[in-house]
Amino acid sequence: MRCIDEIPVVELKGKRVLIRSDFNVPLSADGEVGDVFRLRRGWETIQYLSLRGARVIIISHIGRDPEQSIEPVARALKRFGAVIHVPDIVGAAAKGAAGAMRDGEILLLENLRRDPREKKNDESFARELASLADIYVSDAFAVSHREDASLVGVPKFLPSYAGLLMRDEISHLKEALNPPQPSIAIIGGSKFETKDPIIRLFLEKYAHVCVVGAISSDCLRGNGFPVGRSKVSEHAPAKDVCGNIHLLTPIDVTVERSDKQVSVKKPQDVLPDDKIVDIGPDTVAALAPFIAEAKFITWNGPTGIFEEGFISNTSAIAVLIAKRIEKGGAHCVIGGGDTIAALQESGVPEEKLGFFSTGGGAMLEFLLRGTLPAIEALG
Ligand code: 3PG
Repeated sequence: MRCIDEIPVVELKGKRVLIRSDFNVPLSADGEVGDVFRLRRGWETIQYLSLRGARVIIISHIGRDPEQSIEPVARALKRFGAVIHVPDIVGAAAKGAAGAMRDGEILLLENLRRDPREKKNDESFARELASLADIYVSDAFAVSHREDASLVGVPKFLPSYAGLLMRDEISHLKEALNPPQPSIAIIGGSKFETKDPIIRLFLEKYAHVCVVGAISSDCLRGNGFPVGRSKVSEHAPAKDVCGNIHLLTPIDVTVERSDKQVSVKKPQDVLPDDKIVDIGPDTVAALAPFIAEAKFITWNGPTGIFEEGFISNTSAIAVLIAKRIEKGGAHCVIGGGDTIAALQESGVPEEKLGFFSTGGGAMLEFLLRGTLPAIEALG
């Protein structure tokens, strides 16, 4: 895999560069981009190319509704630099705009998923996208687990390179694949069956694996504890996972009754009307020594339902990690859109917490497989 900084600068000037970014960001109620984290991380490659005189054509999808326009992203990108939104992908308007570009200019084409050929990895669509440019750059790590035309098709037709973000993600996540010891992985989320393979892998590679979020209710249930009205997965965890001695499950939980009363309890005291909404402070305290001694920490998934205000334990873990990193000698990789959103509310600055991956599903799949289809496509 070659990276864009291996291209001699003279060869970039005046070249049209098609960059696949992942600007799939949630829009707030007013239809605007609320969280610019992915945009900020993706901007580095765009700026690198533009400053060297390349004519930069950004392509990305947004959301799962093919009607959704990417225009709000274009508006949000303007805080980083001048971007022209072209409401077309491979039609006459896109071709015309690409052909008329000046050196250093930046275009953002329309939501790739407006064309059904994108998700089908259709070769004609890949060819049409490739025909817009001289060079292809893959910087969309967060969607690299998909085999879409813009990710795995286009590189067949153009000289292809990884962007700076893509390279950064791969190098940090490779470290997380073989962490220095002692290490701890903290994993949350819902649907246990989708997390089962990664938990098993973490149990092999990490000294401690702590389950938080909705999947911790699955593990508690698997270990015979009552979970009341808590969200549980269709498939219960197997005994060799939830009973594994290296798996840390909550020793206390925050519960909410149906009348919205909130309290902290031991797992054995959870009542039928209780819904587990977060871990509890004793669990955070129990994790503290493992975090304090860890040389490597991987974290994916907030500890509780942060969207409903249950953020204090996620924040408390962030504080422990920030302290550990400040002491030196430890790396931390954090990923998942929800984790990053929760941490932005936690008040602990991003730079104190190590590396934030832009990937959620892509991060976990990279850790499982050691590569992803869009990375493979770069050769
Ligand atoms: C993400 O945000 O996880 C990626 O952009 C992938 O989006 P998708 O799950 O809609 O393919």
